[in-house]
Amino acid sequence: MDQETLTKETLEHTISQFFLKDVVSGLSAVNKSLSSKYFYDKHGHALFQQIMQLPEYYLTRCEMDIFQHKTAELAFAIGDEPFDLIELGAGDGTKSFHLLKHLSEHSATFTYMPIDISGNILRFLETNLKADIKDLDIKCFQGDYFEMMAKAVKQSERKKVVLMLGGNLGNMTAMETQNFCRSLYKHLKPGDRAIIGFDLKKHPRTILNAYDDVKGITAAFNLNLLSRINRELDADFDLDQFEHYQTYDPATGECRSYLVSLITQTVTLKNETFSFEKDETIFMEVSRKFSKEDITGLALESGFRHVTQIMDSKHWFTDSVWEIT
Ligand code: AVJ
Repeated sequence: MDQETLTKETLEHTISQFFLKDVVSGLSAVNKSLSSKYFYDKHGHALFQQIMQLPEYYLTRCEMDIFQHKTAELAFAIGDEPFDLIELGAGDGTKSFHLLKHLSEHSATFTYMPIDISGNILRFLETNLKADIKDLDIKCFQGDYFEMMAKAVKQSERKKVVLMLGGNLGNMTAMETQNFCRSLYKHLKPGDRAIIGFDLKKHPRTILNAYDDVKGITAAFNLNLLSRINRELDADFDLDQFEHYQTYDPATGECRSYLVSLITQTVTLKNETFSFEKDETIFMEVSRKFSKEDITGLALESGFRHVTQIMDSKHWFTDSVWEIT
């Protein structure tokens, strides 16, 4: 076995140990839960691509509207001096592409530093971007957000601008969000900026429908985590005996998905057994929605100065610009 395969296998083994540990502890809790960060295996990625195409799922289109039509505002929010653009969870870069192209056409001096957990995505991203933006200076970092950010900030003395798009921050609980924003603050220096995507509060039904589509793709996306557990952790979930249930509470801004057990049943995972009562739920994911005041409040309590909010034409989504003072 060569060195590369060895490291890859060790890495995969470590990842699956975490997966097992998280699943077992989630299913052992009084209120059962699974972590949405495990949604994205190969099938999960494909289902999320389908979600982004759904008429109900407005989030991606709204943020794309910002990156296509408010590009100059985004560039202005970054400023003129040379900088490093660090993107957390870069994905396929379809949104950031518009900003990168604009910056390069306006001869901005910058290095693009995408961070992602997936090496495949980064290789794909680098090839595609280089083909379209010929002078792009790009340096990829594969791994955990903050571990890689610590490396990225050491690359130069330049000002840092951190991008976190897609409303990914919304998948954290209020407590996790606070911790996340504080760590972000600690990794940066005065003058550095962050541009963070937030889905805004709007008509509750519009939000609920985005996560409860009529075609049932979101249901399949949630149920896929049970199939993944069956495949990778040797379990025997019967997918026909679980049903997706979505809630949105305008008071808290929390859009939550659950899977409901349709019968009294047991599920075996490796050598452990988990019992489900009829109608018992597994909490799967929270997608939090924010008011403009929620966002300014979050910026301030994490130590940032709130600079501006850049919104799409419907005012449904915002990329909020924060600065370290
Ligand atoms: C990828 C986290 C932005 O919460 O809107 C979409 C994931 N879940 N439909 C979101 C998701 C169900 C999505 N994010």
